Amino acid sequence: MARRMLIVGNWKMNGLLETARELADGIVAGVSARAVGCEVVLAPPATALHLLQQRLGGSAVKLAGQDLSEHECGAHTGEIGGIMLRNVGCWYVIVGHSERRADCGEDNDRVARKMAAAFRDGLQPIVCVGETLEERDQGRALEVVGAQLAVLYPRLPKRPSLVVAYEPVWAIGTGRNASPEQIQEVHGFIRQDLCARLGEDGRKIRIVYGGSVKPGNAQAIFALEDVDGGLIGGASLKSADFLAIIDAVPEKF
Ligand code: PGA
Repeated sequence: MARRMLIVGNWKMNGLLETARELADGIVAGVSARAVGCEVVLAPPATALHLLQQRLGGSAVKLAGQDLSEHECGAHTGEIGGIMLRNVGCWYVIVGHSERRADCGEDNDRVARKMAAAFRDGLQPIVCVGETLEERDQGRALEVVGAQLAVLYPRLPKRPSLVVAYEPVWAIGTGRNASPEQIQEVHGFIRQDLCARLGEDGRKIRIVYGGSVKPGNAQAIFALEDVDGGLIGGASLKSADFLAIIDAVPEKF
């Protein structure tokens, strides 16, 4: 089953317009100069989405939101709806990032509603799952990830164009790496779970890894059997690093 590798740069709350323009232009130039086989997506802060729509236009680099409201539109101050994200050129949206789960109290049900909203509004959700250090130390990593996945299934459309991002919370922005064995164990578990619930469709869903992916460790991570790409935070803020990570994507299939 061919799954196209996917590299997503999550800029989080970084990038004023000047730096966002420079970074986007550097990444577009680098991607355009290469015969890039993987899909490349950038998730800038909402304030830079419109700028990036203009800078990415015509290139192979696609745009993503970092979050969306579960509501379609209306009286929800401070929220951004999926239709608005589509309107500024987004194809994808990150849903349930651990920083939103922690900072904004997003629980599994809310994440599932947001995922459903993304499908409703014509976006491909990148749903983040992952355990905390405490949960891993208690030997509960697979149980936690299983519970995060379980709430999604009742809300999935037929043949969902879903992306799952496994991001162990303890490896995000910490420089602390999950080992290839730890990563493959959870990715293999997610693949099995998707296939058990969705049959052949589960095989088509991409599972990307996130958590301190850098040019130096990307190759070993992307070579793992059930890893279909990466969700890159810190290293997506320097075009040279992000492009080096793109260069580490193997021709897997
Ligand atoms: P990091 O972030 O690469 O800085 O660890 C990854 C993410 O949170 O998406």
